[in-house]
Amino acid sequence: MVAATGRLAGKVVLISGGGSGMGRASALLFAEEGASVGIVDIDGDAAQATARDVTSAGGRAAVAVADVSQENQVRSAVSSISSELGAVTTLFNHAGTIIVKPFLDLTVQEWDWLHGINVRSMFLMTRAVLPQMLANGEGSIICTSSISAVAATPNEVLYDTTKGACHMFARAIAVEYRDRGIRCNAICPGFIRTPHGLHEIEALGEHGVDTSSSALAEQQGRIGEPEDVARAALFLASDDSRFVNGHHLFVDNGFTAV
Ligand SMILES: NC(=O)c1ccc[n+]([C@@H]2O[C@H](COP(=O)([O-])OP(=O)(O)OC[C@H]3O[C@@H](n4cnc5c(N)ncnc54)[C@H](O)[C@@H]3O)[C@@H](O)[C@H]2O)c1
Repeated sequence: MVAATGRLAGKVVLISGGGSGMGRASALLFAEEGASVGIVDIDGDAAQATARDVTSAGGRAAVAVADVSQENQVRSAVSSISSELGAVTTLFNHAGTIIVKPFLDLTVQEWDWLHGINVRSMFLMTRAVLPQMLANGEGSIICTSSISAVAATPNEVLYDTTKGACHMFARAIAVEYRDRGIRCNAICPGFIRTPHGLHEIEALGEHGVDTSSSALAEQQGRIGEPEDVARAALFLASDDSRFVNGHHLFVDNGFTAV
């Protein structure tokens, strides 16, 4: 049941990658807290399934199918979501993916492709949404970074580099726009039980990195659940974090604290 007085009542949240994993968990939680939720995803069926679950729980949702690395698709997705739900107050730049490979096997095409999805997407989505926030005099942007922005893993030079860029993107936007009411923070998950996270664990294992349950237990206690991250993202999306800006919020049960 949707709370009219929830922590996100009156907010219009746009979530990229809301069809699955942490993006989906956030869409459901944010809607429960009163937000209207716009889902932008390359997987239309998954995005529609999230939207159906939001609306059948009494919430409000809209979907736009887009590849977030593509300028025109992002532009039209943002415009269709905001004409359906209203001006976007909160942007969750979450969509992203991974390539796990030895550094010397990487191609230039792979390098550019992953940077397009993980980093250029932040530029394109934020550039498309920010004018609406500036017109409202406030807005909150959350960028999904990772423990990989600060803790390197063998076979992840490319992925780690993209997440390092997301890390700094969030901080730089915060510094440039804080005087105009904009907050921008990064959320940095540890290993989380999503298709992305499970694929990463398997792929690293195939390359000889110890990603066994016992190794994971030593690093972060247990695998994280999408809801663990959604709850932290809710804090950054809500006015509870009104003086938190340019922050890197690690959701990793101490993985990076060791
Ligand atoms: N799962 C983890 O362990 C983990 C840890 C740290 C950071 N992350 C970050 O989380 C994000 C992945 O999310 P998840 O773990 O919830 O995974 P997920 O695979 O469950 O969901 C990713 C979603 O993004 C969408 N997507 C992928 N490429 C897209 C594109 N080009 N355009 C639009 N949508 C696209 C997918 O369709 C999917 O719905 C990435 O940014 C990743 O770097 C994941």
